[in-house]
Amino acid sequence: MGETTMLMNEPDALFAPRRETGPVILDLRGISLSFGGVKALTDISFDVREHEIRAIIGPNGAGKSSMLNVINGVYRPQQGEIVFRGQHRRNMDCYAAARSGIARTFQNIALFKGMTVLDNVMTGRNLKMKSNFLLQALHWGPARREEIAHRRKAEEVIDFLEIQHIRKTPVGRLPYGLQKRVELARALAAEPEILLLDEPMAGMNVEEKQDMCRFILDVNDQFGTTIVLIEHDMGVVMDISDRVVVLDYGCKIGDGTPDEVRANPEVIRAYLGGESGGH
Ligand SMILES: Nc1ncnc2c1ncn2[C@@H]1O[C@H](COP(=O)(O)OP(=O)(O)OP(=O)(O)O)[C@@H](O)[C@H]1O
Ligand SMILES: [Mg+2]
Repeated sequence: MGETTMLMNEPDALFAPRRETGPVILDLRGISLSFGGVKALTDISFDVREHEIRAIIGPNGAGKSSMLNVINGVYRPQQGEIVFRGQHRRNMDCYAAARSGIARTFQNIALFKGMTVLDNVMTGRNLKMKSNFLLQALHWGPARREEIAHRRKAEEVIDFLEIQHIRKTPVGRLPYGLQKRVELARALAAEPEILLLDEPMAGMNVEEKQDMCRFILDVNDQFGTTIVLIEHDMGVVMDISDRVVVLDYGCKIGDGTPDEVRANPEVIRAYLGGESGGH
């Protein structure tokens, strides 16, 4: 009898919203992007709410990374509009995006391999440093104080992601899974409002994936960071995201909660077609 009660209660616990999401902070409207004759994105619209984990999924070449590159201003779409914190823009500017709180990690790790973990994480603070490089090089009073404050912040992030033991190790000597975590640390050091993660778990083993999932959820929980995540592992996507947008050949074919997307016939077709079609 007790067991029955527990089972009956379970759906409530499962479907209770895990976190409160806020208003829309990023709204992409009718984004189209092409490279010569290749249409990477065709008329894509979706929004991102404050504090949510928003996943972008889709087969290889669907346009997922291109979408992140549009959001942080690396690519300029030929059509569409981006509304960020109520400001309408034709495209984002890369530098301005970073300054206004959008940080990212890359599909292929982009770290300074010869530098230590700590120094790599410190590069995430660059935009926040006020004093110029000359003052920093001279270790001039204010620059020195500033550097100490930034170093403290970098150390905090290192502690948070549990990589203290490798803080002095050159990144190139670390296994792949840890390098991915260092890249996350570098992005977090910028104290972003929106974090864009391009396949943060690709190439990881099960244990490393579980760790990365936990860190992503902790970042979202403790810092309130909004997260836009590209991921191929469906289990991970369905487990940790609030809403999922599905791209296929540059077009949006689905958008909704994990359950809605999972039940969407077009999404099922794209994925099954992808497997049996062998591309
Ligand atoms: N800089 C570029 N120059 C030319 N074509 C590009 C460029 N970037 C992306 N593309 C093309 O745009 C399309 C979408 O690529 P994109 O990298 O966004 O896909 P993706 O969904 O991230 O794929 P994957 O899962 O393999 O990472 C592809 O056809 C790709 O070849
Ligand atoms: Mg990609």
